[in-house]
Amino acid sequence: MSKLYPVKPEFAAKARITADDYARLYAESVDDPEGFWARIGRRLDWARAPTRIKNVSFDAKDLYIRWYEDGLLNVAANCLDRHLDRRGDKTAIIFEGDDPNESRRLSYRELHAEVCKFANTLKHLGVAKGDRVAIYLPMIPEAAVAMLACARIGAVHSVVFGGFSPDSLAGRIADSQCKLVVTADEGVRGGRKIPLKANVDTALERPGTSSVETVVVVRRTGSAVPMQSPRDRYWHVLMDGQSADCPAEPMEAEHPLFILYTSGSTGKPKGVLHTSGGYLVYTSYTHECVFDLREDDVYWCTADVGWVTGHSYVVYGPLANGATTLMFDGVPNYPDVSRFWQVIDKHQVTLFYTAPTAIRALMREGEAPVRKCSRASLRLLGTVGEPINPEAWEWYYRVVGDERCPIVDTWWQTETGGILITPLPGAIAAKPGSATLPFFGVKPAVVDTSGAVQEGACEGNLVITDSWPGQMRTVYGDHQRFIETYFSTYPGNYFTGDGVRRDEDGYYWITGRVDDVINVSGHRIGTAEVESALVAHPKVAEAAVVGCPHEIKGQGIYAYVTLVVGESGSEELRKELVAWVRKEIGPIATPDYLQWAPALPKTRSGKIMRRILRKIGENQPDQLGDISTLADPSVVRSLVEERLIK
Ligand code: WT7
Repeated sequence: MSKLYPVKPEFAAKARITADDYARLYAESVDDPEGFWARIGRRLDWARAPTRIKNVSFDAKDLYIRWYEDGLLNVAANCLDRHLDRRGDKTAIIFEGDDPNESRRLSYRELHAEVCKFANTLKHLGVAKGDRVAIYLPMIPEAAVAMLACARIGAVHSVVFGGFSPDSLAGRIADSQCKLVVTADEGVRGGRKIPLKANVDTALERPGTSSVETVVVVRRTGSAVPMQSPRDRYWHVLMDGQSADCPAEPMEAEHPLFILYTSGSTGKPKGVLHTSGGYLVYTSYTHECVFDLREDDVYWCTADVGWVTGHSYVVYGPLANGATTLMFDGVPNYPDVSRFWQVIDKHQVTLFYTAPTAIRALMREGEAPVRKCSRASLRLLGTVGEPINPEAWEWYYRVVGDERCPIVDTWWQTETGGILITPLPGAIAAKPGSATLPFFGVKPAVVDTSGAVQEGACEGNLVITDSWPGQMRTVYGDHQRFIETYFSTYPGNYFTGDGVRRDEDGYYWITGRVDDVINVSGHRIGTAEVESALVAHPKVAEAAVVGCPHEIKGQGIYAYVTLVVGESGSEELRKELVAWVRKEIGPIATPDYLQWAPALPKTRSGKIMRRILRKIGENQPDQLGDISTLADPSVVRSLVEERLIK
């Protein structure tokens, strides 16, 4: 039995949405989606109010997804202009640099002026509605300015995470034929410089990138970088003298807002396309409900704008809601491992949203670096990106939140645009490790591999049976791939690619990507389950589990274990951990191999790269594939050397 954390009465008393509200609104949202989303859609300012709310077909032969299709709106005007009367002087963006001495604030009025000036700059450079603009920037306010300026003139942005290599950048630029790239001279993370402009130069030497006419360079570090005339232009020079008057042109609700590339299980990254009206309704509404947003909140989501979380819950959702959003250009352990908590105290952050991997990394450092900061301003904590193991949840709750702040474990994907399964903090009791219940309008179903829908408490693959406004509309330039990837496995349903368990209370427990599920002697074991068990051991800091070939069982369990600081791997401890897992889950979950891992290979966004671990566990170290997105490639070399199956 998992532990239940009921909603605290003090929190519920002031919450936007209570348990009764949730039951009533959820029922309304699925019984009458048109009526529900018509009403919620009115939270935005429309230049022409929509009358056709939902027009969707999940039929693979004729698949289309349209929301609010006859409505007209401008996304930037909704994030800026409409707040000016009431919130002109309110802080829109708090910027906290890598260097703890660097921070600044932009009011809604200032942000509006910057966005208008950059929108005029884009027009001046020949960028028009529908053109694609690549944004390859650090976590600086200019990133948000560039995104919103695109939205203002109807250009489609494609943000590429600053940690991606020149080749990855080139591939993305080529796929969507960007006309312009916005970058910076250099980025700075954890005191280290990142040669962004040099990467752009290299990328633009690659075939397929000749669509790029202009590179706009933000001065971030001030280092001299080669500027190629007439292609390369400095942001500050272009902005100088631009008018801060740029009328927001109304766009069709289904006008593309952005493309964001994401990796699938096969092939090159897909350009996930999101559009304007439905996306903004969905991200703003989820942001308000899930974080129980209030006017005076200071909201901090630690994600980079290079990922969907940065789009939906650093920029669009919060700004559409007139919130104060913090952009952090640093890392959790620089200058030291108290940084998150120092930033929370410095800016009096009330709502904090981060990833389980960060929590586990900080948990490894013990409680002292947290306890030495006050954190009294916090009132709610959130997580996203991967299943959170109950131990990390409990630590987050007990140590970071002082048992005072509810935690929202939010499940969603690049493809979903916004949060789909999550607790609402004043309405839904939490169970550590469960994303709990669907958000309004979201109809999850659990299917078995044949596609049969399961009822009650069950386990299977997670599909969503009907559309929601924030859903991706297509794979840019490849609608067929969109249909094949998401709508052909379980016809008539959106397939998430995730495995899930639904418990007796109807709570959803994401078990991880289905491609990570291990089949041991015909029993399915979620890698997350075994990892969670391992991490529950006091000597384990982090663990990753993959399937490996096993003569008798079909697949065996291969575990990589990182120990807490001060512990070292011994044969005795190995046996102890194997016995521990047997005890925690049962004999079928017994790890067949347990390799000590000084560190786990992670992407720069902090995701463990299980694909690589699977290959090492399968003794195929020559088939690791692309390791260019790894934060630290040397981690892989030592794991390969020490692998247990040779
Ligand atoms: C995959 C989507 C959503 C923004 C960041 C990741 C996993 C995400 C959770 C969660 C368990 C989660 C799923 C999903 N995931 N959030 N709260 N609990 N798993 O976006 O890169 O598109 O990854 O992340 O496996 O499919 P993404």
